[in-house]
Amino acid sequence: MTHGTIAGILLTDLILGRKSTWAKLYDPSRVRIGGVGDFISENLNVAAQYLEWVTPGDVDSVEKVIPGTGAVVRRGLTKVAAYRDENGTLHEHSAICTHLNCIVAWNSSEKTWDCPCHGSRFDMQGKVINGPAINGLASVENT
Ligand code: FES
Repeated sequence: MTHGTIAGILLTDLILGRKSTWAKLYDPSRVRIGGVGDFISENLNVAAQYLEWVTPGDVDSVEKVIPGTGAVVRRGLTKVAAYRDENGTLHEHSAICTHLNCIVAWNSSEKTWDCPCHGSRFDMQGKVINGPAINGLASVENT
């Protein structure tokens, strides 16, 4: 709401050719030197997460996923998020986050699949709990 009001004031000033006290602060071409290090660091961290595409899984087969836990398993060129419920039934979904394709990781504390790139979280059945992803993890038949 605040930024919407500021935008209204700023754009009116710019259209009418008036000097605006907000123009410098909201200039899209502004450079904040202090934020450059954080920007680079965060983006290197996200880029590093894509290395998960070429690493082995947490375990080498779904038989090693013990009841009540989940693990990422490599299956050919892709990875599967395998969760074995307390009854021993295996639930498999693609381990590829539906936001921007990072590999999710099992969160044993929350019993969720969490994406390390931008924080999306999925429940044991692959349904979205938190975005930015808006779609659940794909079933393995669709990978
Ligand atoms: S790639 Fe998973 S949240 Fe962005």
